[in-house]
Amino acid sequence: MRGEFADLHEVMAVMTTAFDPHYGEAWSRSQCAGILPMNGVTLMLARQAGELTGFSLYRVISDEAELLLLAVAPEHQGHHIGRILLDQFVAQASAEGATRLHLEVRDGNRATRFYEAAGFQIAGRRRRYYRGDEGEQLDALTYVKSTK
Ligand SMILES: CC(C)(COP(=O)(O)OP(=O)(O)OC[C@H]1O[C@@H](n2cnc3c(N)ncnc32)[C@H](O)[C@@H]1OP(=O)(O)O)[C@@H](O)C(=O)NCCC(=O)NCCS
Repeated sequence: MRGEFADLHEVMAVMTTAFDPHYGEAWSRSQCAGILPMNGVTLMLARQAGELTGFSLYRVISDEAELLLLAVAPEHQGHHIGRILLDQFVAQASAEGATRLHLEVRDGNRATRFYEAAGFQIAGRRRRYYRGDEGEQLDALTYVKSTK
């Protein structure tokens, strides 16, 4: 189900529990609110019995797409909600004509294996992309999946 501005309070609740605050990967509410109205941006929600269990935020522009955020509430992880959201992103981006799908993950995040299992491959490294809560600078890995 597509999300909108009014869903951001629930999205932030999942965001702050899913991402370890130590690594500085979570976005703030104002960062999410700022990107939502932009061209090609989609917020996708996963719900169970009305409760928000996970979400994705992505952008499709022409033949390129970027998965900006993907998170599942900790108590719902490991039940394929993440995989369903990731597959939905790939399917939607492809349907809109994107042939190169990108995403970024902090080097060392266990989610790297999750993306590799879904066919994403490492395309590069962005040095010191994330700033941890003790000021440490952490690399991001850039992943790409070609759908052509
Ligand atoms: C990464 C994340 C979205 C995965 O969602 P999930 O619903 O737990 O994952 P799924 O249950 O769909 O897992 C799909 C597969 O990936 C594997 N997997 C999931 N999370 C994993 C992890 N952290 N490390 C290693 N493997 C993982 C599962 O074992 C599963 O494989 P299987 O089908 O062979 O059993 C979720 O763990 C999360 O929100 N993490 C914190 C936020 C984050 O780091 N997001 C990614 C960066 S934007």
